[in-house]
Amino acid sequence: MSALPEEILRKARENHVPVMMDSGMGFLLDYISHHPEILRILECGTAVGLSAIRMASLRENLLIDTLEIDPRMADEAIRNIHDVGLDDRVFVHCIDASLYETHQYYDLFFIDAAKSQYRMYLEHFYENSHAGSVFVFDNMNFHGIVDHPERSQNRSTLQMTRKILKFRNHMLEDARFETVFHPQYGDGILISVRKV
Ligand SMILES: C[S@@+](CC[C@H](N)C(=O)[O-])C[C@H]1O[C@@H](n2cnc3c(N)ncnc32)[C@H](O)[C@@H]1O
Repeated sequence: MSALPEEILRKARENHVPVMMDSGMGFLLDYISHHPEILRILECGTAVGLSAIRMASLRENLLIDTLEIDPRMADEAIRNIHDVGLDDRVFVHCIDASLYETHQYYDLFFIDAAKSQYRMYLEHFYENSHAGSVFVFDNMNFHGIVDHPERSQNRSTLQMTRKILKFRNHMLEDARFETVFHPQYGDGILISVRKV
C-alpha cells in the first residue's frame, strides 16, 4: 500500500478536491458497519476515490461501483484504488451517473455527485434497488445555505440550494421510503430506506 487514505485526503485537500466532511464520512462508515447485509454499493461522485476506499476498507465482502464524470478525477481514483490494493473490489466507471445503465441490484447507493440532480439519480437508480436498499444523500445543508439562503449572494448557488431543499422535503414525504434527515453530520445527510 503506497497511498494511504490519509495521504490521499491530504493531497485532495491541498488540491481543493471536494471530499466528504469527516463527521459525515464517520457517520456513513458507522452505518455500513452496523448493517452487515450491505454487500454491494453504488457511489455517484468518486472524486479521487477516498470515500470508496474508506467504505471498501470496512470489510472484505463489500463490492463498490463508483461513477465519476471527470476523466482526470477518475484516473486519479483508479491509481489511488490500485495503490491501496482495492482494485479487485472497487470499480471506477468514468461516466455521467445519469447515463450509467446496469442490471445489478445494490444494497446501498451513496449519492455525492451533482447536487441539483439528486432526484434524477434517485429515479434513474430506483430500478436497481430492492426493498431495504438504502440511499444516502450528502450535502443536504450545503454549508448552511439551504436553510439560510441569506448567507449567499450567488445566484447559481441559491438556485441549487432551492433544489436541494425541494428534494429534501420531497424525500421526507415520498411514501416509497422511510427517510431520516441527519443535519448534524457532515454537510447534512439524508438516509432513505426503500420500504417495499
Ligand atoms: C463531492 S465530490 C465526491 C467526493 C467523494 N464521494 C468523496 O467523499 O471522496 C463530487 C464528484 O462528483 C463528480 N460529478 C459531478 N457530476 C457528476 C455526474 N453527473 N456523474 C458522475 N460524477 C459527477 C464531480 O466531478 C466530483 O468529482
